[in-house]
Amino acid sequence: MKKITSLLLIAAFSFSLVACGSRQEANSKTTESENVTTEEKPTETTETAEESDAEETNDTLVVYFSNTGNTKAIAEKIANGLDADIYEIIAEVPYTDADLDYNDNNSRSTQEMNDPSARPAISGSVENMEQYDTIYIGYPIWWGEAPRILDTFVELYDFTDKTVIPFCTSASSGMGSSASGLESLAGSGNWLDGQRFSGSESDETVMEWVNGL
Ligand SMILES: Cc1cc2nc3c(=O)[nH]c(=O)nc-3n(C[C@H](O)[C@H](O)[C@H](O)COP(=O)(O)O)c2cc1C
Repeated sequence: MKKITSLLLIAAFSFSLVACGSRQEANSKTTESENVTTEEKPTETTETAEESDAEETNDTLVVYFSNTGNTKAIAEKIANGLDADIYEIIAEVPYTDADLDYNDNNSRSTQEMNDPSARPAISGSVENMEQYDTIYIGYPIWWGEAPRILDTFVELYDFTDKTVIPFCTSASSGMGSSASGLESLAGSGNWLDGQRFSGSESDETVMEWVNGL
């Protein structure tokens, strides 16, 4: 009887040793695979950093001012087509529908356009303006000119050594002297001839102009 009990005890002990051994093996496999994952992570992080470095060095910026979306649509087509950065000029005091009423002699837009010294304030600013060497500037035509907030914008920045390309949208008017007016106020930059678009121009038409510059 004693022999049988001893044999049973030895068998149970041997089984527990084997079970313990395979648990340790399993644990070490988990640790190994965790190490591999950890080693792979820095490579992924480096790639992401390189990609974002590439994004940061974009040298073309598309700036636009838009209230009803027409100029915004053209600006986005240019920015998408060139993979350029985009910046929206936002008025510190946003324009309401009443402000934009050109049939009202007392509306904000009419009053601003009647006052060449008006400089509506801009909310925020372009970060790292120095990194850009080509700047598209888009705006709607108001009473044949660029809205006064564009005067605020061009007077805020130094365009020396930058190529500036104006574009506008309108109901029917051409660019007129709107771009040359902005160029004089800016006082710096190599300003190219601009282009007027309707708000619903196709990607192809817009990029044809961009690629022909
Ligand atoms: C105050 C004001 C004045 C405007 N003056 C003209 C104009 O002189 N000639 C013209 O063709 N369109 C004029 N428009 C129409 C806008 O230029 C046109 O709708 C433009 O595409 C709007 O651009 P947005 O949608 O980017 O704001 C005027 C619009 C406003 C609000």
